[in-house]
Amino acid sequence: MDSVIKNEKEIEIMRGLGKILSSILNDLEKMIKSGIDVWELEDSFLKMCKDYNVIPSCKNYSEGSLPPFPTGLCISINEQAVHCFPVKGTKLKEGDMVNIDTVINFNGLHVDSARCFPVGNINKNNIRLLRTTKNALHNSVLKVKDGVRLGLISNTIQKTVEKEGFNVLKDYAGHGIGYSMHEYPEIPCYGDKNDGPKIKEGMTICIESLVCEGKDDIENVSEWETKMKDDKNFCIFEHTVLVTKNGYEILTN
Ligand code: MF3
Ligand code: CO
Repeated sequence: MDSVIKNEKEIEIMRGLGKILSSILNDLEKMIKSGIDVWELEDSFLKMCKDYNVIPSCKNYSEGSLPPFPTGLCISINEQAVHCFPVKGTKLKEGDMVNIDTVINFNGLHVDSARCFPVGNINKNNIRLLRTTKNALHNSVLKVKDGVRLGLISNTIQKTVEKEGFNVLKDYAGHGIGYSMHEYPEIPCYGDKNDGPKIKEGMTICIESLVCEGKDDIENVSEWETKMKDDKNFCIFEHTVLVTKNGYEILTN
């Protein structure tokens, strides 16, 4: 798949975008406290995109027969899972876990990243859930290198998560990224380390550590929004990563 290999010019743009997305997430993190309306996060995000002269990719994004995604941020709180959007009037409260997942683009190229944040003090199990999800992403990124099979990345996420007694989502996955938000290849959070295609130098991939506290069954709340069926918490960390000859470069750091 030659089309997914990025040239130096494209990589340079994605590198710049990745830095911007990372500082946007840092700024959003500073706003997270008990009592804040999630709409303020959305509002600030759209303003920051204007200031940086980048386009919020999620806003009005459409896929298949789905209606356009309404917001620039995906925000999910506690048992809410992927593709939930901020709704005006929803306030964060002490003990919540809030996931922010978003994508920006410039010159047609996209970068995608997600982080989970605690609101004030969260309970011990949630601290462990957050740490495990973050570690799973970290451990899997360490495996990235030209010629490595995707299964090794998937398997690393799964092993890290299951060792702690949590579960990975099976219905959603990471993905390649570039001129589209979702490109080849698909990167599941589970699998055998010897399975899957080999990744190549110059590919840009989004590794998504998609983790839940309980069972991995998900249900749709609307066309886009999902939640964990058992009402236990969901947690996500995601980075856009460039595959290099000898390893990786995290673009959204
Ligand atoms: N990281 C999410 C994904 O790859 C970003 C979704 S943006 C949305 O699915 F617009 F599709 F919601
Ligand atoms: Co993604």
